[in-house]
Amino acid sequence: MQALSQLSYTPTANPKLYTGPAVATIARARPADTPARCAIMPRAPPPIILVPLPDSRNAKPPDLAGRVILVTGATGGLGEPLARACAALGATVVLHGRHVPKLESLYDAIVAANHPEPVILPLDFAKAEAADFGNVAAALEAQFRRLDGIVHTAAMLGSLGPIEHQSFDAWLALLRVNLAAPMGITRALAPLLAKAADASVVFTLDDRGIAPRAYWGGYGVTKAGVAALARELADEWESRANLRVNAVVPGPIRSPLRGRTHPGEDRTKLPEPGELVPLYLHLLAGQPKNESARLIEARAWLAGAPASTPLVA
Ligand SMILES: NC(=O)c1ccc[n+]([C@@H]2O[C@H](COP(=O)([O-])OP(=O)(O)OC[C@H]3O[C@@H](n4cnc5c(N)ncnc54)[C@H](OP(=O)(O)O)[C@@H]3O)[C@@H](O)[C@H]2O)c1
Repeated sequence: MQALSQLSYTPTANPKLYTGPAVATIARARPADTPARCAIMPRAPPPIILVPLPDSRNAKPPDLAGRVILVTGATGGLGEPLARACAALGATVVLHGRHVPKLESLYDAIVAANHPEPVILPLDFAKAEAADFGNVAAALEAQFRRLDGIVHTAAMLGSLGPIEHQSFDAWLALLRVNLAAPMGITRALAPLLAKAADASVVFTLDDRGIAPRAYWGGYGVTKAGVAALARELADEWESRANLRVNAVVPGPIRSPLRGRTHPGEDRTKLPEPGELVPLYLHLLAGQPKNESARLIEARAWLAGAPASTPLVA
């Protein structure tokens, strides 16, 4: 294994893994230059704008040279090809996951391919505290002085079944991993993103959060919460010229998570997660501000059909 570059910070959850000093940081709930919005002002519905997306079969990848991009769930079915693609296009990728050996192996593959050296960020979102996210922000600031994008793919499925069979504690873990962590890390890193010329946050949703159905339990509920979070952030960043936010609904993809929700399915008929990568790359770098704040149905995008709607109604 190559010498490993690990993001140097001390997590509250498991201090034994780390050597770097804990760094305190203050995360602002609302950036100072954002005016408070009057919540009771009636607003006209936004005009329907057809927003161009790259051709799913022939997209020109953006140049990510010099950019620093955090991929949460970089060891997952979707996160891994995305992290590799970002590195191949010149980005320094912050590889987040739970398991150090998996992160190390991805790190090695990226270095072996002569792409910019990534860093690993092992952090179990089920145990993460607010201070951990602040420490991640301080470490990124100290090591890179910049952050150009966050792609949220990390997610926990939990158990599927009737509500009366669900455990309260398991729901709390789902809320932490799937909802509180995306908020916590985005909130902590927002000041760093705000310094970038063109920063992008991409959330990953699920059909079951958009249209909840029986037995999807805490997973569906937390995915609905992430959709709401994306909509709130898109509204808050409406007039922040350098900050974009989008949300992608992947639809069924051939990943470990799908194998757990649909174990009997013929997986060969599903798109590979890598087929969605050009869409995420476009959202990371290549999409103009006035085309952002979109919810994009990747299944429709893959089929060449209209795929995006405004996040903010
Ligand atoms: N697969 C589909 O068909 C499908 C459909 C709709 C939406 N989605 C969404 O697409 C995204 C990617 O899904 P996927 O199929 O790539 O899932 P996946 O293969 O199961 O990967 C999930 C990732 O999340 C990480 N993770 C899980 N629990 C965590 C925790 N407690 N703390 C930190 N990280 C944790 C995993 O880390 P480890 O490697 O350590 O486990 C892994 O990197 C998810 O947001 C999912 O909701 C997927």
